[in-house]
Amino acid sequence: MSSDHKESSYKQKNIELADLLTKQLIVSNEDFEKVSALLSKEFDRGLRSTEDSFVKMYLTYVRSLPNGEENGRFLALDLGGTNVRALLVEFHRSQSESSATESNQKQQQQEPQKGSIEIIDSSIETIPTEIFHGTGEQLFDFIAEFIIEFAFRNKLTGERIALGFSFSFPSIQKGIAEATLVTWTKTFNCSGVVGCDVVRLFKASLERKAHPSIPFIDVVAILNDTTGTLIYGALLDENCRIGLIVGTASNACYVEHSSRIEKWPSNYNDPEQMIINCECGAFGDNYVIDWALTCWDRQLNYESLNLNKQIHEKLISGMYLPELLRRCLLTLIELGIVFNGKTPIELLQPYSIRTRYMSHIDQDDENDKNNFPNTRIALTNIFNMKNPLFKNGFNDSDVKIIHMINRRITKRSANFVANALRTLANRIDNIDISIAYDGSLICLHPHYRCWVEEKLNEFIKTSEIKKRFRLIRANDGSLYGAAIVAAICDR
Ligand code: BGC
Repeated sequence: MSSDHKESSYKQKNIELADLLTKQLIVSNEDFEKVSALLSKEFDRGLRSTEDSFVKMYLTYVRSLPNGEENGRFLALDLGGTNVRALLVEFHRSQSESSATESNQKQQQQEPQKGSIEIIDSSIETIPTEIFHGTGEQLFDFIAEFIIEFAFRNKLTGERIALGFSFSFPSIQKGIAEATLVTWTKTFNCSGVVGCDVVRLFKASLERKAHPSIPFIDVVAILNDTTGTLIYGALLDENCRIGLIVGTASNACYVEHSSRIEKWPSNYNDPEQMIINCECGAFGDNYVIDWALTCWDRQLNYESLNLNKQIHEKLISGMYLPELLRRCLLTLIELGIVFNGKTPIELLQPYSIRTRYMSHIDQDDENDKNNFPNTRIALTNIFNMKNPLFKNGFNDSDVKIIHMINRRITKRSANFVANALRTLANRIDNIDISIAYDGSLICLHPHYRCWVEEKLNEFIKTSEIKKRFRLIRANDGSLYGAAIVAAICDR
């Protein structure tokens, strides 16, 4: 056998081995049936009791969807990631469409069907790192100053302006403008907030920072980002019943019929529905899907800051996928299947791979004839090319293997999302169901949204009731939704 031939059969062997070892990342449709049944049970449990459940199914007290009657100026504030954002909008009732401005009319044609939204101004500010781990008072003073400054810049006048507050952390609500933080997630860990009413803390900061020349900022509603996304989606499409976020973190909400919310027996008046914030990232925290986890999921969980928490989210969201890729690669390196068994230093640092590189890698096609150009570029960004290991560039089989596992991890995430969506859809009576989505992974990845759609269609084939799904992008839905809910409260 010539040395070239030997080399190529060795590479082929590595590809086959990598394929075999990472097959555990592929979840069959039969297994998804089981996962769906388990998730449905957890949904039921959450609707019965928040205390006795893992998937909390929080009441949001948002019951009405926009109907075109919203009118006037409203503020929205969004806290949920690394930035705080503000928005000032003006709603025009549907019957006053003829008097809307030209830009308004354009917007009506493209987007909202009911009434219209005119965006007056928006602002964004990065939250300083020290605030993430400071006191609650520092956090709320910071955002109060930010919104007051925004009100100044817009020369808001008058007595009062209503504000919708999008707050994307697990919180128990007892009303539309009251939310007790259960736990911080993502990078936040401010002291003195868990167990407190976030609206009260924010209002106290607004009072402290109040200025006589700006109107009273009235926090009329607090909502999760998924709820805002659903509400904004409902303005774009009347069949919208599900809100979905797939970005750094992930979660979903849906419109549930009052009679099915056992833990909320008190209210059956119109509209007989409420948006439920599922907090489905916590599905699996009671070990029910442990059988579906790979060795890399388990390692990631054991070494995470929130051990045995947010198991479903760890399979899905952009914060964790690159870490799974890193761990998977380390295994293949240890077995001598990738990089000739030599570990580049960059892979030793947890969470060192950025999510966007996974999107770049996925720009290449599986049957790529061009030798995976985007994967190669992404790898030059991840690794220091001065490393002698890469002096001849990347080896073809390594590139192919990395592309394959990257795709398996991302596709599995999209499949778990589709599975959660069809499980939610089964609880909704409508046949036509639109799903409003937002978040960096689903919006920026080249195929993610299509993969979710493809899997939904596969699931439909075997389901008794043939639902029709439509995925609608609700850009900045959390912020628009917060303004809309403020307007609904004032309707
Ligand atoms: C939070 C949810 C939120 C999701 C998306 C999760 O970590 O618990 O409340 O909706 O992130 O931002």
